[in-house]
Amino acid sequence: MTKWLARAKVNLVLDVVGPRADGYHELRTIFQSIELADVLSVEPADGIAVVCAAPGVPDGPGNLAFRAAARLREQFKVDAGCRIAIEKRIPAAAGLGGGSADAAAALVALNDLWGLGLTSADLVTLAAEMGSDVPFMVAGGTCLGTGRGELLTPVATAGRFPIAVVVPPVAVATPAAYQAVDRWPTPLHPDIEPAIAALRSGRWRDLAAAVGNTFEAPVAAGEPRIAEALATIRGIVRQGVVMSGSGSAIAVINPSPGQVEELARALPDCFVWAGLTACAGVSRLATN
Ligand code: C5P
Repeated sequence: MTKWLARAKVNLVLDVVGPRADGYHELRTIFQSIELADVLSVEPADGIAVVCAAPGVPDGPGNLAFRAAARLREQFKVDAGCRIAIEKRIPAAAGLGGGSADAAAALVALNDLWGLGLTSADLVTLAAEMGSDVPFMVAGGTCLGTGRGELLTPVATAGRFPIAVVVPPVAVATPAAYQAVDRWPTPLHPDIEPAIAALRSGRWRDLAAAVGNTFEAPVAAGEPRIAEALATIRGIVRQGVVMSGSGSAIAVINPSPGQVEELARALPDCFVWAGLTACAGVSRLATN
């Protein structure tokens, strides 16, 4: 059996540029992998099975990892099967790309298990069919995402930095969040460039000043628990607080250990995680 880490992402900056003719929205975003990860155990089996004990996460075909496995098997006429057990650590429907991370890890793990010989570029292309942020979850690290989020350009960074994630107990449906943005009279369109310069130079304070997300105001307006959490966090950490994706997760750039303790104390109903950013999306954990 092989074990794989499927890392979560945050969006350090997210500009929903506007709606497109195909029903998607044009994005400009900086994706950042973080150490928080699901663990996938992958082994040979007859047929395809995906199991996950976490509440609200579907087993079987409803799971993106199952769809990734089925797609690979069909396209490359694979006779073998697989059993994928997902140990869920990334909160679901939180804007952290949890389901997408599992699909990305399934693509990478099954390329290995079934000896398909696909390159990273091949996997990124296949990933785009599974969802707009699955390609980034395969690529990992730090990337500028454009198009519907699937067109990736790596962003040079001076290194890893501390980051915290606070998740209020609210599940946000992504399509509804896009509708809220479309109705919002004064959407924020954060500039990507200052964040790219700060990442390159390692000036984490400048990075903290450069974060922003078009979704934040419209989504927080409809979800008081997110608005309250944002206000509480900003009372503790003055800069570098930004909602990730369509929420409800809130990222905190470069917090001190004391601030992380304070966040956990002040937000007892929230999931609070602190760690480092990561340079990879999917990686092999161990083989036994
Ligand atoms: O691509 P994905 O399956 O993650 O998208 C889910 C939904 O989110 C889409 O059906 C669409 O309503 C919305 N979406 C969007 N623009 C994007 C990405 C997603 O409008 N760039």
